[in-house]
Amino acid sequence: MDFDKCYIEILQLVKQAGSIINEKIHQYKDILTKSCDIDLVTEWDQKVEKLLIDGILSKYPDHKFIGEESIAAGEKIELTNAPTWIIDPIDGTMNFVHGLPHTCISVALLINKTTEIGIVYNPILNQLFTARKGQGAFLNGAPIHVSNRKELNKSLLLVEIGTSRDPEKVEIILQNVKILIPRVHGLRSFGSAALDICMVALGGADAYFEFGIHAWDIAAGDLIVREAGGVSIDPAGGPFDVMSRRILCASSTELAQELSKIIIQFYPERD
Ligand code: IPD
Repeated sequence: MDFDKCYIEILQLVKQAGSIINEKIHQYKDILTKSCDIDLVTEWDQKVEKLLIDGILSKYPDHKFIGEESIAAGEKIELTNAPTWIIDPIDGTMNFVHGLPHTCISVALLINKTTEIGIVYNPILNQLFTARKGQGAFLNGAPIHVSNRKELNKSLLLVEIGTSRDPEKVEIILQNVKILIPRVHGLRSFGSAALDICMVALGGADAYFEFGIHAWDIAAGDLIVREAGGVSIDPAGGPFDVMSRRILCASSTELAQELSKIIIQFYPERD
């Protein structure tokens, strides 16, 4: 497979998809719900995903897909060794619905379960984060690097509330916020997992963790943060598994491990 060609093709498609998001973010949208009444989806999530999948299939008819909206529509989730595109057409759908310009497209290509290409694109703020395995991470073509911070007590952390209102999970989120407030410089919550990870890659935040996240929210970001010199692990300290619905990424192994030891863990049901 010609990765250079494939990378250019997918970038073109992502830019095309981005122009739809840019055009629609401040317009009226028909809103549907998925797992609960705050798990939102718009017609544009579905249309952007279709544009990306159709565009990829026209060049690579045997490639597989794990796409947020196709899965919501009942397709099976299966990560095999085959070339697989993991796609979130709009990550930060809630922000998109409200017109908050912190929303993005997230696309990753995995082959043999290894991520080769990761792209996270916020078309509203014109932030294009890209990475290819072994070639570094970039924002709008310029190299980016994590902060290298090692000490939790000097760190700025990103945490998310997510869309589940399962009382046990909400309680763990609140307890973790309580545990962390006295131990860190600050906590922030932006509403897009893919962009949170890119903020760690950029060095603007030092760590991010979330339970209950999906592969499409984190697959591209995982490659971007690792190529920027950071780490992704399981929040309990073990190896990262993109299908586990759990992630902790940080600017250094030291920080990731320190954080993993003090947070209360939550194990969501797998997809
Ligand atoms: C959501 C966002 C949010 C995170 C949720 C995700 P979506 O993705 O990434 O920040 O907290 O867990 O589900 O639904 O907007 O694609």
